[in-house]
Amino acid sequence: MECSLENGATTELPGQPGAPCIIVIFGASGDLVKRKLIPALYNLTRERLLSREFAVVGFARHEMSHEEFRTKISEAIKEFFTGAIDQELWNWLVNRLYYVSGDLQEPAAYQRLQNVLAEVDKTHGTTGNYLYYLATAPEHFSQIIQQLSTVGLTHEENGNWRRVIIEKPFGHDIDSARTLNREIQKTLKESQIYRIDHYLGKETVQNIMVFRFANGIFEPIWDRRYIDHVQITVAENIGVGQRGGYYDKAGALRDMVPNHIFQLVTLIAMEPPISFDADAVRDEQVKILRAIQTMSPEEVLKYTVRGQYGEGSHNDQRVPGYRSEANVPPNSYTETFVALKMFIDNWRWANVPFYLRTGKRLPCRLTEVAIQFKRAPFVLFRKTAVEDLKPNLLVLHIQPDEGISLNFGAKVPGPLVRLGAVDMEFKYEDYFGRTPSTGHERLLYDCMLGDATLFQRADMVEAGWGVVSTIQDVWKALPSRKFPNYQAGSWGPKESDEMMTRDGREWRKCSG
Ligand code: BG6
Repeated sequence: MECSLENGATTELPGQPGAPCIIVIFGASGDLVKRKLIPALYNLTRERLLSREFAVVGFARHEMSHEEFRTKISEAIKEFFTGAIDQELWNWLVNRLYYVSGDLQEPAAYQRLQNVLAEVDKTHGTTGNYLYYLATAPEHFSQIIQQLSTVGLTHEENGNWRRVIIEKPFGHDIDSARTLNREIQKTLKESQIYRIDHYLGKETVQNIMVFRFANGIFEPIWDRRYIDHVQITVAENIGVGQRGGYYDKAGALRDMVPNHIFQLVTLIAMEPPISFDADAVRDEQVKILRAIQTMSPEEVLKYTVRGQYGEGSHNDQRVPGYRSEANVPPNSYTETFVALKMFIDNWRWANVPFYLRTGKRLPCRLTEVAIQFKRAPFVLFRKTAVEDLKPNLLVLHIQPDEGISLNFGAKVPGPLVRLGAVDMEFKYEDYFGRTPSTGHERLLYDCMLGDATLFQRADMVEAGWGVVSTIQDVWKALPSRKFPNYQAGSWGPKESDEMMTRDGREWRKCSG
């Protein structure tokens, strides 16, 4: 079925370019820079959303001249940018790239950085506005900020600004997140701190708020009276790749749940904010995180499932088990899959289960939120078996196919009253075309404008870790699981399905 929207009808305000500034990227030789940040900056250049007074300074350990850095980045963009590159626009950007080499622990390196920033400021008229992007290993976050502060580079004066984007993971549990917050707040005001979660850069994630609050028809049914349950799936078909070293210390729960998945939960569950101001939105989000019911140890046993993939197949090829991946100990007990059932203790959501699952080496790449409504009373359809009356299902497809679908019952044509399930589908691409985006464009742009709505506040990060820490504590106290317990290419351990079956429900599957 087709929606009857006018194709591409938009209400759009012209974007203003970001403020004059220099973006300083710590960890400039890392993967994130090549794969995401530089392509995102190129996309912003193309959209004319960067100020003419703009430059980038990369900071990393390797010795390199500005010219060598420009060459390296030019090679990377060819490899990682998916669309065609306009040479003139690229030249504009590449001529604004600079580089400083140094050890993150070496105070002299920050003085060198300060000198380069002063020169670049003069050349490009960037007025002393600096955006520091910390794309390093997390153990350096606090120290970088401290060192920047020592040489006066975090100090805002004469109307200029100094902001810091901090990559995930922000801590590894509630205590370390609190400590990190305390340390960085010694030198930075909360308004200078932008804790990034790249899920909030995804168009379809941002669209959750628009879908709920710009349309009057959904809000009245968006609560426990009409909704049976919510399922959130973030499935990946890839394994841990080269990230075994990091991942083995983190595991699926910490890697995905307190950040990306909880962002989805809060956007789905929050009350309408009083405005779209950063704090108004984040106040509502944090209320949800605080309202997530704390699990008792017995509930952790019943409502959480963890798994680790063994050998299996992906695209008809044999793939190794987690324990045979690079930088993973052969006896690792780290989980690569987690499924949870949780409740939000407030009036809107009382007794509505939220089922969450995420994992590596599942059958397909799929991120979606499925909202299942309660069944209609079936008195009118006595001749239809109860199980044939499908409940309405609203699915917000986040990736890879971006869109929204609503599934409902319709009469199958013919002399008998028989019911069939049909889909009303909206696909982003059909209406708005495909816009190449890494997801970081919006976040970088917002930070340049000083809008922190899509970034996490200190209390949000801590509240998210609070939920996860309870689970971790119980898991730690239990004997090790029999890992591996699911085959690469399957939907995780059987206990995950059993958890749903016990509730008379089932996980949605993708065709793989
Ligand atoms: C990262 C996790 O934050 O998100 C990775 O550390 C995961 O393990 C990635 O693969 C998923 O992001 P996306 O955008 O591919 O869904």
